[in-house]
Amino acid sequence: MTAFTINGRTVDVTAAPNTPLLWVIRDELKLTGTKFGCGVAQCGACTLHVDGEPVRSCVFPLAGAEGRSVTTIEGLSEDGSHPVQQAWVALDVPQCGYCQSGQIMSASALLARNPSPSDTEIDEAMSGNLCRCGTYLRIRAAIHRASEA
Ligand code: FES
Ligand code: FES
Repeated sequence: MTAFTINGRTVDVTAAPNTPLLWVIRDELKLTGTKFGCGVAQCGACTLHVDGEPVRSCVFPLAGAEGRSVTTIEGLSEDGSHPVQQAWVALDVPQCGYCQSGQIMSASALLARNPSPSDTEIDEAMSGNLCRCGTYLRIRAAIHRASEA
């Protein structure tokens, strides 16, 4: 059994310790906002927070979550009121949407450690989150907007 906190709730899961956290969250805990893209830590679609740090859950083993606090897109706010979520809506950032929960989780982690990032700092922090729809300019603008909120 592996015990950890997810979105403020404690869970005990029975999956093998080397199971990627992504599959525990999607298949066992039924939180499907976190997406599978590449499976090899190259696209960022599966990004969530472990103790506030962004991690690629497709390559993060369940055992690594033991006793820690995991936050997914569903837990970022109860009602979509997180400043990053509000900025995303205000600027209509998503196109197909597939990459966007990972983008939001990376952006919110960035703003938690750097409340007023420069363009360069945004580009560096977000470089591991790919968007096949090319929403990068809106993502950058929305991070600036959220930083002002
Ligand atoms: S699915 Fe995890 S980084 Fe692509
Ligand atoms: S909005 Fe389509 S992949 Fe990013």
